[in-house]
Amino acid sequence: MFLVKIVLYFLLNLDLILITSSPYNKEITFLAKKLDNVMRLSDQELSAVKTFVYFSPPSYCLEGLLNWTCTTCGEQTTNTSHVKAFGDFKYIFGYTAVNTNLQLIIISFRGTRNFKSWMGNIKFAQLDYPYEGAPEGAKVHGGFLHEYNSVKEEVIANILELTSMYPNFQILFVGHSLGGALSVLSLIDLKLKYPEMEMKKINLITIAQPRIGNYIFSKWINEQFSNLNNYFRIVNKNDATPHLPPSLFGFKHSGVEIWINLVNESYYCIPDDDMLESKLCSNTQHGLSVATHKHCWDIDIGNSRCSIDDDIYYHNLDEILID
Ligand SMILES: *[C@@H]1O[C@H](CO)[C@@H](O)[C@H](O)[C@H]1NC(C)=O
Ligand SMILES: *[C@@H]1O[C@H](CO)[C@@H](O)[C@H](O)[C@H]1NC(C)=O
Ligand SMILES: *[C@@H]1O[C@H](CO)[C@@H](O)[C@H](O)[C@H]1NC(C)=O
Repeated sequence: MFLVKIVLYFLLNLDLILITSSPYNKEITFLAKKLDNVMRLSDQELSAVKTFVYFSPPSYCLEGLLNWTCTTCGEQTTNTSHVKAFGDFKYIFGYTAVNTNLQLIIISFRGTRNFKSWMGNIKFAQLDYPYEGAPEGAKVHGGFLHEYNSVKEEVIANILELTSMYPNFQILFVGHSLGGALSVLSLIDLKLKYPEMEMKKINLITIAQPRIGNYIFSKWINEQFSNLNNYFRIVNKNDATPHLPPSLFGFKHSGVEIWINLVNESYYCIPDDDMLESKLCSNTQHGLSVATHKHCWDIDIGNSRCSIDDDIYYHNLDEILID
């Protein structure tokens, strides 16, 4: 067991070891101590993560989004302003905004409204990642990249406008489902174009995110963070989407998984010996479901007025669950 831990220390990003003495990285401190395990979130950690998750549901709203009166623009997000929508509500959509209470610049990506067409197109094809600075052999899902590219100019312009107005604010990328994948691609796009942006000021929270790229790509994504304490990937119970596209096709997740288990306990899940996905958390689930896709904890991501079209969402999913 001791030897295994040594090897894991070696394989994990060196940062994880270097920062164990830093008070700033409380979670990572125990992550590094518990490399062969999972760790329960404390109540404070859970509420810190939720603070960020609350910015996801409004991305499904059109009505009341710009003046922050939408049905899911709740009290947890009070004092959000400078809201700008990007994309096309029928296809790829999201918003950028500022929250002065939390001193945050927010970039929030919605999932697809047309899950059927998305699933139909999720042919598992990988493209070479055509961004300068990506390592050789990094590949991403071509559809996700195409979708991100359709909004990237708007998104990056909005972010730059807000960072020039609020240079000391932290940045939060948040995305649900397909929007989780797009938020990862967006963050990395920003980082490559503007390397001077400090990653410690950038937080990334994805919810129900599908896999995006291959091992080389995902490992590289992790390396962009000075530590993984700022990059969490929330998986609710046995939701199917995080298991797609299947690892069988060479896809791997990045980030630190936060898994909500079947009895509502929330865990940090340390990357396993392949260094990118824990085998102890959502990867233990085989009876995969779509009913757990649209919420996490007590937070609905989409509600009766601002939601994904359920009929479209549920269609045809069974055929794809071969992971
Ligand atoms: C907010 O915008 C909506 C349109 O999306 C409008 O109907 C509503 O009156 C506005 N509310 C306020 C308080 O300005
Ligand atoms: C929102 O910001 C204003 C000042 O800009 C402040 O007076 C108000 O208390 C804030 N609201 C909340 C709920 O913090
Ligand atoms: C888990 O939490 C959800 C939402 O708060 C609740 O509806 C459900 O009953 C809980 N399930 C269990 C097993 O505690």
